[in-house]
Amino acid sequence: MSYFEKVKNTEIKKDAVIMGIESSCDETAVAIVKNGREILADEIISSATEHARFGGVVPEIASRNHTVAILTATENALKSAGLTLNDIDAFAVTEGAGLLGALLVGVSFAKAVAYSTDKPLVPVSHIRGHIAAAYLADKTLKPPFVTILASGGHTAIIAVEDYYKLTVLGGTIDDAVGEAFDKVARVLGLNYPGGPNVERLAKTGQNTVKLPKMLAHYDGGEYDFSYSGLKTAVINYVHTEQQKGNEVNKADVADSFQHSAIDVLVEKAVMAMKKTGYTTLAVSGGVGANGYLRDLLKETCEKRGYKLVLPEKRYCTDNGAMIAAEGYLQYLKGNFADLTLNAKAVVPLK
Ligand code: KG4
Ligand code: ZN
Repeated sequence: MSYFEKVKNTEIKKDAVIMGIESSCDETAVAIVKNGREILADEIISSATEHARFGGVVPEIASRNHTVAILTATENALKSAGLTLNDIDAFAVTEGAGLLGALLVGVSFAKAVAYSTDKPLVPVSHIRGHIAAAYLADKTLKPPFVTILASGGHTAIIAVEDYYKLTVLGGTIDDAVGEAFDKVARVLGLNYPGGPNVERLAKTGQNTVKLPKMLAHYDGGEYDFSYSGLKTAVINYVHTEQQKGNEVNKADVADSFQHSAIDVLVEKAVMAMKKTGYTTLAVSGGVGANGYLRDLLKETCEKRGYKLVLPEKRYCTDNGAMIAAEGYLQYLKGNFADLTLNAKAVVPLK
């Protein structure tokens, strides 16, 4: 009997223990989560410092580091949960979106462990994984809620109507917000990863540089964003000042950029809350780790009486626990893959 014939009718357990494997970018992450809510182990081995001198993630370096780190991350996760591979009910893995070579390491590894234990292989969308981090942050959270998805690759306001039905209310028409943080970091001479470095620099600056709040009042799609123009505005400002021989206060630029990039996110999320009538707002994706965004969300939700679900910073950026959390939901539906599963550079935001 083939592997898939053996596992396709696996009995679905409500109390399932899922291993989440994530390798879409520069983090090799393996976590073990019970019932999609309780984190039993959570390991992350990052290759970020190896990319820093190149100013961004080098795909080949990321892939090679995944191959070196994935076994250690898995062994450490099992050890810290006090479990063996045979205790895992299903192996969830990010199938996309991300860097193909990097994803392939996780997908191949997940196939191997699923095959060797005769347990289901559950493909997970990285984006859905980010959104599912909210279930780890608030163990009682149930849809519906609105989430601000703000990562390096995506920016969107999404209505989570139920555990499976996501409606994208609006998204970026060009760059993602995290990408804008990374590009602005480069203009300001800051290292990769840009987001946390821009945030750090902004702490000593003032919001005094006039920058556009792109699409704050855009007629096209009410909930759409644009970050390409904001990035260009920052570049133009810095270059113009330099040409005039003026010293650029980089901290002020960082703080002003942060306000322009983030205020619109929160404004549009509030519009979405009003439209849907939902009372819970969550944040997902790496930019969710930004302190200014977190403070603004706390203030806004308190003022408007919304419940706020703010995953810990560690669970906003890439991690294996979010993949296990979403993997649990897919496991409950019996969404298992066979061994032909392939990595996908792009997965639709749906
Ligand atoms: O979700 P994530 O870890 O990976 C993707 O799926 O893209 O997001 C990474 C993005 C990067 O662009 C990074 O600069 C940004 O999240 N980021 C931040 C912060 N931490 C990470 N942006 C602003 N402030 C932060 N503290
Ligand atoms: Zn991510």
